[in-house]
Amino acid sequence: MSDYKGTVLVVEDDAAMRELVVESLADEGYEVLSAGGGREGVKKVRQHHVDLVVTDLRMPDMEGLDMVRELRTLEGTPAVITVTAFGSVDTAIKAMKLGAFDYITKPFEIDQLLIAVDRALRDRQLHDEVKRLREEVRDRYGWGNIIGRSQAMNEVFELIRRVADSPVTVLITGESGTGKELVARALHYSSYRKDGPFVAVNCAAIPSQLLESELFGYKRGAFTDAHADRKGMLVEASGGTIFLDEIGELPSHLQAKLLRVLQEREVKPLGATKPVSIDVRFISATNRALEEMLGSGDFRQDLYYRLNVVQIGLPPLRDRPDDILPLASHLLERAAERAGKTAGGIAPDAAKVLLAYQWPGNVRELENVIERAVALSQNERIQLGDLPRQLVERPAEDLLSGASARRLTLAELEQQYIVRVLAEEEGNKTRAAQRLGLDRKTLYRKLDEYKRQEQDA
Ligand SMILES: Nc1ncnc2c1ncn2[C@@H]1O[C@H](COP(=O)(O)OP(=O)(O)OP(=O)(O)O)[C@@H](O)[C@H]1O
Ligand SMILES: [Mg+2]
Repeated sequence: MSDYKGTVLVVEDDAAMRELVVESLADEGYEVLSAGGGREGVKKVRQHHVDLVVTDLRMPDMEGLDMVRELRTLEGTPAVITVTAFGSVDTAIKAMKLGAFDYITKPFEIDQLLIAVDRALRDRQLHDEVKRLREEVRDRYGWGNIIGRSQAMNEVFELIRRVADSPVTVLITGESGTGKELVARALHYSSYRKDGPFVAVNCAAIPSQLLESELFGYKRGAFTDAHADRKGMLVEASGGTIFLDEIGELPSHLQAKLLRVLQEREVKPLGATKPVSIDVRFISATNRALEEMLGSGDFRQDLYYRLNVVQIGLPPLRDRPDDILPLASHLLERAAERAGKTAGGIAPDAAKVLLAYQWPGNVRELENVIERAVALSQNERIQLGDLPRQLVERPAEDLLSGASARRLTLAELEQQYIVRVLAEEEGNKTRAAQRLGLDRKTLYRKLDEYKRQEQDA
């Protein structure tokens, strides 16, 4: 397979010429098919996998141009090189306007043809590769990959659906590891900007002097080390989305500059005299309470309102226990695939531990736990012993201490416990009621009540 160089179809009505071309291509190691006319050529493309068609433009049964036009309608359209007599180059150009890759004029040296074929196939491989990678990225970051069946996550999905295809500025909030970047990418890859760039800037990771030139770019000579012009991420993101992560860490002089960019939709690189206009969608994220920073003056109010047009709040994992097991199996499959292992599920006692834990590091922590378990696991199924000790040792205590730390009322604690038991029983209300020592009607009534409260909230 690795030495497969591609399949070329030679369409030529002149038998001697056809033979010559077919043999030269076969000598170079290509798979070669041939046809004596346009109709036969189209038929072959329908029947076989063909990467490239080398076709004469003037043939008795079907004009080469019509063939190019027809090939274009087929699935997996092959690349086309046309061969044309000197003096009818304008037809070859028409063919290129229809999507042909190249043309050569008769008479030609066989090497000339071989070079053109090689170029066309390489170009095609590159295109296929880009297309495949694009699809892979889209698959990976599409919002189908965000797992969650809790009410809270369903609301997040609904919000994503509503704002993805609009240019509206979005602020994503949530504790560390709740999936803020995942949601930002999903917004981008399900928007009309999906073929444009997604540029992520972590405002906390870049020192503030650097951050300015990274974001806004500079002209050569703007400062000592500016040896050449540099575009800056805001300009680079044009046509796409810029993701300003940890926006709460943005130093105040950059807050002022960013505000101007949001208002004017243009950027002035350091040392430049004229601003550059940009067409960028802004998504930012923070795990800090920006509202609190407004009061203390650490974050500009006007900037906050510009960024916070729509807010997507990601709830901590401990507040959505229904999501723990679905997430765990999703992450398990991903981790197993990466490790070249088979995912064989999670043993019930290990699942119970996952459900009982508080997950201060949220989904990222769960991801790490699963990855570690996959690495340690002796068999396909994750066992209790594959989980880190701190998870196993104090699960019951964690539920209570978590509740008291968060100052839950007894009713709130009861609700959490009920939801958890229900999740542990995989949604089976009869079994959950039994375990809780409730009759089924009471359980139903309580669950209805929770649903109503959520809807009112
Ligand atoms: N709902 C989800 N479904 C599937 N995977 C998720 C989900 N939420 C988070 N993840 C995964 O968890 C990890 C952490 O998510 P992400 O980096 O988006 O979080 P974050 O909120 O940006 O965290 P931080 O504040 O630490 O930067 C990623 O690998 C992400 O793919
Ligand atoms: Mg992040």
